[in-house]
Amino acid sequence: MRDPAHQHPTRPLLRIPQVERLLAQMTLAEKAGQMSQYPGRRADPEQIAEDIRQGKVGSILNAGTLERRNELQHIAVEESRLGIPLVFGRDVIHGYRTAFPIPLGQAASFDPILVERAAAVAAREASEAGIDWTFAPMVDISRDPRWGRVAESCGEDPFLASELGAAMVRGFQGQDLRDPTHIAACAKHYAGYGAAEGGKDYNSTHLPEQLLREVYLAPFRACVEAGVLTLMSAFNDLNGIPASGNELTLRRILKGEWDFLGVVVSDWASMREMIQHGICTDEREVAIQALRAGVDLEMASRCYQQHLPELVESGVVPPELVDDAARRVLNVKHQLGLFDLPYAETPKSSVAVCAEHRELARQAARESAVLLKNEQGILPLGKDLRRLAVIGPLADDPQEQIGCWAFDARAEDSVTLLDALRDRLRDAVTIEFAPGIPDCRSSDRGGFAEAVAAARRAEVVLVCLGEIANMSGEARCRAFLDLPGVQTDLLRELSETETPIVLVVMAGRPLVIGAECKLARAVLYAWHGGTMAGPGLADVLLGDVAPSGKLPVTFPRTVGQIPIYYAHKNTGRPPQDDGKRIPTGTPLDPRGMNSSYLDVEASPEFPFGFGLSYTTFDYDRLSVSPLRTPVGGSVTVTARVTNAGRLAGDEVVQLYVRDLVGSVTRPVRELKGFTRVHLAPGESTQVEFVVTSQMLAFPGRDMSSTTESGKFQVFVGGDSRATLTTEFELE
Ligand code: BGC
Repeated sequence: MRDPAHQHPTRPLLRIPQVERLLAQMTLAEKAGQMSQYPGRRADPEQIAEDIRQGKVGSILNAGTLERRNELQHIAVEESRLGIPLVFGRDVIHGYRTAFPIPLGQAASFDPILVERAAAVAAREASEAGIDWTFAPMVDISRDPRWGRVAESCGEDPFLASELGAAMVRGFQGQDLRDPTHIAACAKHYAGYGAAEGGKDYNSTHLPEQLLREVYLAPFRACVEAGVLTLMSAFNDLNGIPASGNELTLRRILKGEWDFLGVVVSDWASMREMIQHGICTDEREVAIQALRAGVDLEMASRCYQQHLPELVESGVVPPELVDDAARRVLNVKHQLGLFDLPYAETPKSSVAVCAEHRELARQAARESAVLLKNEQGILPLGKDLRRLAVIGPLADDPQEQIGCWAFDARAEDSVTLLDALRDRLRDAVTIEFAPGIPDCRSSDRGGFAEAVAAARRAEVVLVCLGEIANMSGEARCRAFLDLPGVQTDLLRELSETETPIVLVVMAGRPLVIGAECKLARAVLYAWHGGTMAGPGLADVLLGDVAPSGKLPVTFPRTVGQIPIYYAHKNTGRPPQDDGKRIPTGTPLDPRGMNSSYLDVEASPEFPFGFGLSYTTFDYDRLSVSPLRTPVGGSVTVTARVTNAGRLAGDEVVQLYVRDLVGSVTRPVRELKGFTRVHLAPGESTQVEFVVTSQMLAFPGRDMSSTTESGKFQVFVGGDSRATLTTEFELE
């Protein structure tokens, strides 16, 4: 059998003279060293220092403090033979000291400008601490809310994740990588990690290549086009081949078809885990498979460092593959300016959690909150309110509101919802706080009576329920998606007081909350909103701004509906209506022979793109021009949006397209554009979207990108159920 690496030779790379000169002087062991990343804190510090001195390490993740970082860097630069600087990485996922809403919450803002600015703030704060490189954005498409890492994602849709992933890359990396306030980004986890079977982390994924390319790879490609410097190969086995040894996704698609010139870093020991996957017998074989597949830098395990020199010397792996990988690592260091400025400087005055950053985090918390229900306009809370009960442990938990994967944000910097309301309402409103339950997972009902009594005395009861931060994120998967502990029981008892309930849900994922929504007059889905969750939510609840977040994921009615997502296929037998009526007494009845469940409606609890405001928006005058365009051309879709209510507000206008007939079946709708508009009461605006035929391309039967002629239906509206529609044709 021919060596697969030779069938797909490494594409020519950008050559940087300084790097090429260095490469020419390096031993095989030094090259393998550049391809090794050590965790900075777990291992023995003396050993790390010695290995750096010997040129066995190219990168460190989680160095700890800036001082420790510089100490290690001094060893690399001054004591190793070639003086090659290390590159220091860390997970800076949704902020650094200033935590922004979890990525899924940021995605609900449908606001790439905000998301880019948030990433730029994170980069600025992280770079002050000596971090050169973040392992973000996470652009895994996730259509299963049981999976804990949905919190770190931009949700279910490839277009939204592409737009926001690219925005994060621009925010982290800026215009000039040598600018010390920017850091390298890393699109992760390549590929298919979010499709873990059963929503269980690290589980196998099975994705036909067509779906893989069209949905799961699309946001990675967008990040590559946005100039992302690095990508991370995932833990999962994809169609039987672990992602960190997957030649198709890494070498052929990423480095071949997309011409990616940056670094592929493996996820934490995901290379060595190929032994557990049962695809390699030992670490030597791991090194062979990962190198051939295209992993350049090994995180945490040491298969490259231990085996590459011997593998090249014995002719098992071609030296060019090692050169290519080491070159990529060195190129990234060069692009980051580390050869010239290897040390991080403590800033004279720190910008961490400064007023400007807090203000942006507050805006992000505001824009990410999604109003799911608002009966009788109970929100915003009225100016005549005098007594408010605030119930629920999450209303005043500075740590939990930060959300998962935030190592550097501190509870002492957080402002909770209770703090913010007290601050805003002062003497005008009497606020009584009773957590009701010690924490949201507890089954202790000891605090119910006090909460109920407070609710009885109040005009409105604000109940803040949900998940603690650590119930989402890596390895935090759930088989049940209801509110944990006795939170629903508490809500039920509160509802018996008949004091109107405003429910605020803080969670890292969509929860199954249909029953809870019935008990409340209004429901605001707040995700984990970060450092400034409290003030941001108070701004919305008190009506300074109308809510404008939209769901970046479909909310199921029950776990049994999962996977449920808006861009599904039509099937040969789409459900006719919501609910089936199967008569008794007949062996088989033609009614209800369609793709749906007997015991739950076909529709979700809340659809993708959904979110209410304090006002309403009307849509009309939809038109497409021209009505026919050749393949290669484009059409302009316009529609009028009017604020039909009495309050000002932002609306996220969404454009969906349906390709009516294709050579492979097409989704019933696909998001192809969105824009945020601000409208005063009574004001109208015309929105315009350009749809190029390239945007309608998809991987055809032979997997190459095809654009097919035919009719396309367009929909414009405020969520994925938009009804205003028209058609155009590609010729
Ligand atoms: C996670 C990655 C993360 C890495 C480094 C892994 O466990 O899957 O997302 O970047 O650790 O912390």
